[in-house]
Amino acid sequence: MKAAVTTKIGPPEVIEIQERDKPTPKEGEVLIQIKAFGLNRSEMYTRQGHSPNVKFPRIQGIECVGIVEHDTTGKYEPGQQVAAIMGEMGREFDGGYAEYTVVPSRIVFAFNSSLSWDKLGAIPEMYQTVSGSLHEALEVKSGEVLLIRGGTSSIGMLTCQLAKHLGLTVIATTRNESKSHILIDNGADHVVIDDGTIQDKVKAIFPAGVNKVLELVGTVTLKDSLYSLAPKGICCMTGILGNSWSMPEFTPMGDIPSTRKLTAYMGDAENLSSESLQEFIDAVESGAISLNIDRVLTIDQVPEAHEIMEASKAKGKLVVVT
Ligand SMILES: NC(=O)c1ccc[n+]([C@@H]2O[C@H](COP(=O)([O-])OP(=O)(O)OC[C@H]3O[C@@H](n4cnc5c(N)ncnc54)[C@H](OP(=O)(O)O)[C@@H]3O)[C@@H](O)[C@H]2O)c1
Repeated sequence: MKAAVTTKIGPPEVIEIQERDKPTPKEGEVLIQIKAFGLNRSEMYTRQGHSPNVKFPRIQGIECVGIVEHDTTGKYEPGQQVAAIMGEMGREFDGGYAEYTVVPSRIVFAFNSSLSWDKLGAIPEMYQTVSGSLHEALEVKSGEVLLIRGGTSSIGMLTCQLAKHLGLTVIATTRNESKSHILIDNGADHVVIDDGTIQDKVKAIFPAGVNKVLELVGTVTLKDSLYSLAPKGICCMTGILGNSWSMPEFTPMGDIPSTRKLTAYMGDAENLSSESLQEFIDAVESGAISLNIDRVLTIDQVPEAHEIMEASKAKGKLVVVT
């Protein structure tokens, strides 16, 4: 089979296209013929060396969609459409950047859809992250105000659509004023231009502050996001678009305004179910949700996809079809 193999820590060129033997499933595992997979920034960070537990060479890829070729557990029939996601896929064991993968049955989710594979490939990780952040971490409720920091990201754009369906009011941010119309067209009620400090601009719209913040820019804007919250509001750190993993100084009594709450979402397969995935895929199929896909590539172009991510040139999800 063809695979994009990350040979060692380094720039996108360390990803080589190789011929590998098709893997054989052991007891409890499922062999999937991969049809498509989404690219994720966490894979870029792993390739750059930010995941000390990952050993190279490794076929990366924390998600894929495809069809079951052989399920040793007997749960899935050959030909069943499935997604596989996280659970150390593409990290501790080889993952989705290939024509076939073998994964534990517990990270496999069945679905039925007539959507094209490129669209299906964009869904699992993006949906799991957005749904988990909104429901598990932020516990959003209809009528609340949500600030999405990093609004033009794939995760930010989908969060806005789901939040609007759930009856929330959304403020979305971008650093680039020329992208404001993208956020408004996507359903945002307000756009705030992010120069690093936005609490005054947010409070000019909602004087008491917002109920919830989805922080995708990360540690570089976190303190300001906490100060954008209304009393008892929650800020969830889900992303680090600002490329900084830690903060030089953090003083809980002071940096967290009184009664506001700080949490994080790192997501896993256990936060997903076949039923909710199917519901989401149906919503995409009916046109109720639109996916924001930048471009569709081939396995040969995985190194190029990493270059695009590294340069933040994508205006939506990058998807590979096999
Ligand atoms: N926790 C989880 O389970 C999980 C899962 C998936 C992804 N994530 C994280 O979620 C974040 C979003 O991922 P994505 O794939 O949706 O991103 P993406 O689509 O690649 O985001 C691109 C956008 O990020 C903004 N951006 C780029 N560099 C920035 C910087 N230095 N400071 C502020 N904004 C910057 C740009 O917006 P503007 O130019 O408009 O400002 C750009 O349009 C990432 O940090 C990713 O690692 C987390």
